[in-house]
Amino acid sequence: ARVLVLNGPNLGRLGVREPDVYGALSYTDLVEAGRRWGSELGLDVEVRQTDDESELVRWIHEAVDTRSDVVLNPAAFTHYSYAVRDAAAQVTKSGLRLVEVHISNPYAREEFRHTSVVGGVATGTVAGFGFESYRLALIALA
Ligand code: DQA
Repeated sequence: ARVLVLNGPNLGRLGVREPDVYGALSYTDLVEAGRRWGSELGLDVEVRQTDDESELVRWIHEAVDTRSDVVLNPAAFTHYSYAVRDAAAQVTKSGLRLVEVHISNPYAREEFRHTSVVGGVATGTVAGFGFESYRLALIALA
């Protein structure tokens, strides 16, 4: 089965950005790990990242049109983007699955991170396990 692993703004800066929060591994490491986990789990995994809301929305539409499940780290869009939420809703309403993931545990951080506008339309959420959050999401889909 095909799975799109979609990452929102600033996640291309992994390894450089706040390593105390997000760890020392880079975005390239995440792409490689996604490929490895995919082959271990028998999933056709493609990892992408964008800082652009409209591009992220388009990729979520693409998942619907190509019948792909989604692992989505909406990053800061998590907390305020109704456009990303409405796109994510189309995935789950069409019988596909969408797992929201976070590297950090947003509930242990600033107040504004305690709200996810995406969580209510996701199949489920994995947060707080570093890069392992993505692996756990892929295991759930497999
Ligand atoms: C994040 C958590 C968000 O609050 C933050 O804006 C991010 C990354 C995470 O993976 O922990 O950019 O989604």
